[in-house]
Amino acid sequence: MEVLRREDAQYVLRPVREEDILEVMNINRLTLPENYTYSFFYSIAKSYPESFIVAESASKLVGYIMCRVERGFSKFGGLRFRKLGHVVSIAVMPEHRRKGIGKALMLEAMKAMRNVYHCDEVYLEVRVSNEPAIKMYESLGFAIVDTIKHYYLDGENAHVMACDLLGSLK
Ligand code: ACO
Ligand code: ZN
Repeated sequence: MEVLRREDAQYVLRPVREEDILEVMNINRLTLPENYTYSFFYSIAKSYPESFIVAESASKLVGYIMCRVERGFSKFGGLRFRKLGHVVSIAVMPEHRRKGIGKALMLEAMKAMRNVYHCDEVYLEVRVSNEPAIKMYESLGFAIVDTIKHYYLDGENAHVMACDLLGSLK
């Protein structure tokens, strides 16, 4: 992707760089209970650099989205074998929320998954109690397609949400 500067906002979106990974891991630890090793972040950055995007404000990272590409049956049901973009993790630092950064990260990653990696649809898992995230995904055209019982380590259920990429992106 190109660096995206927003006239109205105080942040830029740009592709992740290797030297960002520790800062991304820090945001991940501060904002989500699901954490991953350095090598997990690194391998996704190497394999799918166009859909691993960071938001930067005043030379500090304030958010990220990390995705990978998989092949499998459509999350909408049936036996269509498709290329699926999987949003593994997205977060925005608390003091930078509700400014459109999360949605902008999602939109850029979805464009990359469609245009660069040729995915047919995008999906993700989200805690059933995570209303802010569910609302954001719905505003982007995602629908709840499944619920997985006890998906998380603490026993909470996950909604699987999916968005078809073959139509136009909202
Ligand atoms: N309550 C209700 N709706 C909300 C909320 C909220 N607290 N936050 C976002 N939304 C909805 C609104 O429709 C909003 O549009 P609006 O502000 O015009 O009303 C829309 O989502 C877009 O909001 P953004 O400002 O773009 O979202 P933000 O930058 O605040 O980031 C995010 C949203 C990433 C979910 C943030 O709250 C966050 O980091 N949460 C903690 C980490 C997390 O839960 N990540 C998702 C886990 S699931 C996964 O990673 C696959
Ligand atoms: Zn997942």
